[in-house]
Amino acid sequence: MSNYTFDQVIDRNHTGAAKTSAELIMDHFNLNYYDDTISMWVADMDFACPPAVIESIKTRADKLIIGYTKPVNAYHDSIINWYQRRHRMNLQKDWLVFSNGTVSAIRNSLRSFTAEGNGVIIQPPVYYPFEREIQDTKRTVLRNNLIRDEENNYQIDFEDFEAKCKNPNTKMFIYCNPHNPIGKIWPAEDTAKLLAICEAHDVLFFADEIHCDLIRSDAHFESALNLTNDKNLIVATAVNKTFNVAGMHITNLVIKNEALREQLAGFTGSIGLSPFAMEATIAAYDKSEDWVVELNKTLDDNLAYLDEFIKEKLPKIKFNKPAGTYLTWLDFNAYGMEEKKLLSVIADEAHLILEGGSMFGEAGTGFIRMNISCPKQVLVEALNRLEKTFANR
Ligand SMILES: Cc1ncc(COP(=O)(O)O)c(C=O)c1O
Repeated sequence: MSNYTFDQVIDRNHTGAAKTSAELIMDHFNLNYYDDTISMWVADMDFACPPAVIESIKTRADKLIIGYTKPVNAYHDSIINWYQRRHRMNLQKDWLVFSNGTVSAIRNSLRSFTAEGNGVIIQPPVYYPFEREIQDTKRTVLRNNLIRDEENNYQIDFEDFEAKCKNPNTKMFIYCNPHNPIGKIWPAEDTAKLLAICEAHDVLFFADEIHCDLIRSDAHFESALNLTNDKNLIVATAVNKTFNVAGMHITNLVIKNEALREQLAGFTGSIGLSPFAMEATIAAYDKSEDWVVELNKTLDDNLAYLDEFIKEKLPKIKFNKPAGTYLTWLDFNAYGMEEKKLLSVIADEAHLILEGGSMFGEAGTGFIRMNISCPKQVLVEALNRLEKTFANR
C-alpha cells in the first residue's frame, strides 16, 4: 500500500509552468495549444513534489526573513549521505560546488575550462541544450554520434570518440548518463573506457548524471565518480529530476580536483544558495527516499502500460522501454511523415505536445520524445488520442 498518491491531476495553469505555456509552445515549436491539450514535452513531472519538500518550503517561509544564507552542515550531509546510501559514492564536503542548475554549470564549465574554437564532444541524439551551450559560447560541437542498430539499441562509437579526443583542440566532453532522450544507462565498462580516453588526452569529462535516481527496478547505475579518473572529472548531481523541483535550480557538482574547483570559482565567483533551495534539498534527500521508491514503481507501471499499448494498438511505432529517466523515445519512422507535419498532426488532431527527435540532433530524426511522468489516467487518455489519430495512417 503506497503512502503517496501519484494519481492526482494537478492544474498547472496560472503558475507560469513552461510545460503548459501556450505562448512558449508556439514560440518554441510553432504548435497550437488547446484547452484540453496534454503537454508531454519538457522534462518535469506532473506529480506533486514529495510532501516533506513542500512542508520544508512552507516552514522556511514561516520564519519570516528570507536573507542571505550560509549552507548549514545538514545541507551537505544530506547530499553526501544520499549518494553514499544509494550509489556507493564517497563524497566529501569540499568537493561539492553549488550551481544554479545543470545547464548553467555546463555553460560555466565551457567558459572556465575551454577557449573559443575549442572542440567539445557530445553524443547525439542527446539533450539539446548541450549543443546549444557549446554553440552559444562559440566552441565547436564535435558529434560522436551513437550507433543505432535495427532494434533501436544504441552503442557508443569508441573509435570515433578516441579519434576526436586525440585532436589537441578537443578540450571537453559532456556525457549524459542515464542518457536523455534514449533512456539508456551506460554500463560501467563504457564509462570507464571513456574516462580513460579523456584522462589520456587531457579532455575534461563532464558527467551529467541528474537522472540517476529515476531508474527501473532491475537496472543498475554506476557513477563516473566510482571509477578511476580524479584528475579531470566533474559530476553533476541534482534534486531537480528526482524530486520534481526543477524550478528551484539546484545542482551540486562534485569536483575532486581542487585546481578545477578553483578555476571554476575564478570564473563564476561565489554562487549564493537560496534558503528555500537549502531546505528543499535537505527534505528531499533526508525525508523523501520512500517517495522516490513509490515514484519509480509508478513510472514502471506507466512504462509497462505504454509498452503493451503500443504493441497491441500502435504496432507501427517501435519502442524500447528505457532503463532510466521518465522519457520515452518513440520511433515513428514507419509512418514516413516529415517531422513538422507529424508534430502538427499530433498537436492539432490528438491535442498532445510531444517533441520531435531532430531537436536532439539529426540522428534523432523520425523519433518522438514523450514524457510519461504523469498520472496513469492522463497517459491512458494521451495514448487513446494517439491511437485515434494514427489508426488509419
Ligand atoms: C540530462 C539533462 N541535463 C540537464 C537538464 C536541465 O537541468 P537544469 O534545469 O538543472 O539546468 C535536463 C532537463 O531536462 C536534462 O535532462
